[in-house]
Amino acid sequence: MNPFNLSYEALMCTNITKKIKLVNELYTLKNECGLDYQSSCKIVVVEYPGRPEKPSLARFNTMPKRGKSDIGFIETIHAICHIEFNAINLALDAAYRFRGMPDQFYKDWIQVAFEESQHFQLLNNYLIELGYQYGDFDGHNGLWKMTHETDYDVLARMALVPRVLEARGLDATPKIQKRFTNSNFKPMVGLLDIIFKDEIGHVKIGNYWYHHLCKQRNLEPIKTFDELIQKHIGEAIRGPFNIEARKLADFTDQELTYLQAN
Ligand SMILES: [Fe+2]
Repeated sequence: MNPFNLSYEALMCTNITKKIKLVNELYTLKNECGLDYQSSCKIVVVEYPGRPEKPSLARFNTMPKRGKSDIGFIETIHAICHIEFNAINLALDAAYRFRGMPDQFYKDWIQVAFEESQHFQLLNNYLIELGYQYGDFDGHNGLWKMTHETDYDVLARMALVPRVLEARGLDATPKIQKRFTNSNFKPMVGLLDIIFKDEIGHVKIGNYWYHHLCKQRNLEPIKTFDELIQKHIGEAIRGPFNIEARKLADFTDQELTYLQAN
């Protein structure tokens, strides 16, 4: 079966339940070796991936400041749930868009899409338990923006989405967990543990394929990364960095020195 048509269908699907069902289907087919990764399929630009009508998308600077009130914590849970929803689309787009990569590349990103859909469900179920659901607060579009901007090259995508955006999640999670520890929402600490462990794996996959591509193209990884950062972000990535987690995700010592030097 052609994995690209199915990935595209899941990516563009606007219904959450159906999207998760399609991701599960893709994941099962991947595990049963029922996908032919050398199939062809038209590659189209996706300016807006499939998402439900709600949440409405707000600009970063109009997002409310989240305080330490219960509603502030619930907004934070919703914001993380929104990140996980977007992460499903990010992984599906990586599995769909690029051709000529080894089979394992597609398998890796289908695996990531599946795990992100699990994270989304964990958080949405918790929101439901609390009397809310995904869509009750505004979200932002930052993650997709970078995904769309790097649709021209798999190397730029691997450099900037898993290794920058997702890796930021590794830096931020322990601090967020600490805040939840002393709140009325302690189950979040355990949920974030599960998510954190998987996210290390996702960043690791990004690092693996980034270095694979640099080697294949005979490019120096740090110089190439720095050029892409300048081109797409325009300024150095800000710390503090979770060095321990980034090491587990296979950032090299030279890469960590580069990050900390900026
Ligand atoms: Fe995730």
